[in-house]
Amino acid sequence: MGYYKNIYKSWKNDHLKFWGKQAKAIAWGKKPKKILDDSNSPFYKWFPDGTLNTCYNAIDRHVLSGRGEQDAIIYDSPVTNTKKRITYSQLQYQVSQFAGALTKLGVIKGDRVIIYMPMIPEALVAMLACARIGAVHSVVFGGFASNELAVRIDDCKPKVIVSASCGHEPNRIIEYKPLLDKAIQIAKHQVKKCIIFQRGSLYAQLNSSQDLDWSEFIKDAFLAKPIEVDANDPLYILYTSGTTGKPKGVVRDNGGHAVSLKWSMNNIYDVQPGDVYWAASDIGWVVGHSYIVYAPLFHGCTTILFEGKPIGTPNAGTFWRIISEYKVKVLFTAPTALRAVKRDDPKGDFIKNFDITSLKSLFLAGERADPDTVLWLENKLKVPIIDHWWQTETGWPIAANPLGIEALPIKTGSPTLAMPGYDVQILSEEGIEVPRGTLGAISIKLPLPPGSLPTLWSADDRYIESYLSKFKNYYETGDAGYQDEDDYLYIMSRTDDVINVAGHRLSTGAMEETLSNHIDVAECAVVGVYDNLKGEVPLGLICLNNGCNKTHEVVCKEVVDLVRNEIGPVAAFKSVAVVSSLPKTRSGKILRATIRKIANKVDWEMPATVDNPLVFEEIKKALKPLGY
Ligand code: COA
Ligand code: AMP
Repeated sequence: MGYYKNIYKSWKNDHLKFWGKQAKAIAWGKKPKKILDDSNSPFYKWFPDGTLNTCYNAIDRHVLSGRGEQDAIIYDSPVTNTKKRITYSQLQYQVSQFAGALTKLGVIKGDRVIIYMPMIPEALVAMLACARIGAVHSVVFGGFASNELAVRIDDCKPKVIVSASCGHEPNRIIEYKPLLDKAIQIAKHQVKKCIIFQRGSLYAQLNSSQDLDWSEFIKDAFLAKPIEVDANDPLYILYTSGTTGKPKGVVRDNGGHAVSLKWSMNNIYDVQPGDVYWAASDIGWVVGHSYIVYAPLFHGCTTILFEGKPIGTPNAGTFWRIISEYKVKVLFTAPTALRAVKRDDPKGDFIKNFDITSLKSLFLAGERADPDTVLWLENKLKVPIIDHWWQTETGWPIAANPLGIEALPIKTGSPTLAMPGYDVQILSEEGIEVPRGTLGAISIKLPLPPGSLPTLWSADDRYIESYLSKFKNYYETGDAGYQDEDDYLYIMSRTDDVINVAGHRLSTGAMEETLSNHIDVAECAVVGVYDNLKGEVPLGLICLNNGCNKTHEVVCKEVVDLVRNEIGPVAAFKSVAVVSSLPKTRSGKILRATIRKIANKVDWEMPATVDNPLVFEEIKKALKPLGY
């Protein structure tokens, strides 16, 4: 453990020297002389006097250094039967052209651009084009419905939205245009233009006053050069779920982001320029931002853009086919994806059909890596299976097994140790560090490292209130867990209303707000319950208003449809039961933790403060038909 320990210690002894050294790996316009400005804490600024361009670091510098003919992106789409390779030179051309067209439309540095697109190369082109001209992109996951898109439009007030005619799910085509139009109609903010990429599989009817066809839009556009921005200028906003229905707009800067992601590629993932790196996620999530788009490109790797699912497109061998076909060195995905593969192919027969010897490691994140799946993978793949832990807010791993520094002993169930940059401590309710082995709130001593969120978009107060107010001088991760005697971390649960459904971070609070909007719902509670494929799924309990004359079945179907239409299918909200009242403390707090335990069939005790103990019997009865 010597190498890791030394590096972690060198960071702890002098974090400015550490990050100053790592910053040298980035191409700056103006090299930062100052490493950290902490004069306005807790709003820290990394590399405050540096300037750079993120797109230049992701593309141009590699073309200049002779990687022009190397594949930057390999697009593999089993759902449309398409495979395509885009070299760094081609990507430079496409991105410069789209950036030129955006500029012609009036998009300038600091303007926001929402990108609501499926997993196609044009989505990456749009992201990188924004970075090239200093515009701030905000990618919205395709599985969110119009309402969620509208909330994001009103929060970040984009000048332009870039979208596509459709997305492909295995069982259906998702028409994006009606969803987009509805969102624009709901939103108060007025968008100047929408640019629509027409896919061969579906042609969207454009509205001549609002929409521009992508191919027309880029015709005759000049090739925009990368502009220099301040290290602390925002690169993107990515909305993520919190406790309430209003998503948090996590801001990412340019400088710290580039430095931290570049560092992570060598040191955590052990990949070198030229290697093929594959994050099987979606660009709508942070994993997609960091490890489909930016980090592999900063590092001169080839990134795989996969439009499909781990199973059913066409089968549980797809991941192994891709690894073998493109010689993938590192795969990064969510445990749920591999649980699905394991369920469909328990003996791993598909693996035998492919030469996957290029694969050197598999990284998992997004939810707890369950030991069953990890052991199965170890057995079948014979490469290190690395659990690592991070969040949208941090943008890169807080805890990992840094294979590029040293392969540390693996302890199944733990994402291993804190990475340099993160002073992780487990705190009690009172903010005091707890002894090893004791469960507590996982917290990070300020300042957070480069790449982590500097604030929330237009919401400095909410940033402080959500993350920094509970423990003075610490960032509260929202995760509960413990550290063992070797400092290994164990991430056990969330301390808030966030649940992880198939690796997707969702808010039960947001679902409750949606249910409450149903005319017949008087009260409700949504909790995350155990699911052997998706990790967790939401379960709702509703109480009906007096005078509701619909059957329970009808109301349940209506509220399921409501969540699907308002939040999106990705919420996977399918189970709901009607009860006459909800269990509450005498002060009126709904006892969600107990509901969760009942549904999960784990031991539970009658809370001493409950106002009506009989309600639990009714809940048990109501959950039975749902399989709980
Ligand atoms: N656009 C529109 N709809 C989408 C969508 C998108 N981009 N992504 C998902 N959906 C829909 C699905 O079609 C599905 O709809 P349905 O209820 O009509 O079937 C619903 O949202 C839930 O989708 P999903 O979570 O993908 O569940 P699934 O049952 O279709 O597949 C898994 C299960 C495990 C295979 C899948 O969830 C998976 O691959 N997960 C990995 C997720 C991941 O990579 N997360 C990133 C973190 S690293
Ligand atoms: P997201 O912001 O979508 O990346 O979700 C972050 C949350 O996912 C974390 O706060 C954890 O609750 C959970 N998570 C991510 N990685 C892991 C992991 N390796 N083990 C356990 N939980 C994880």
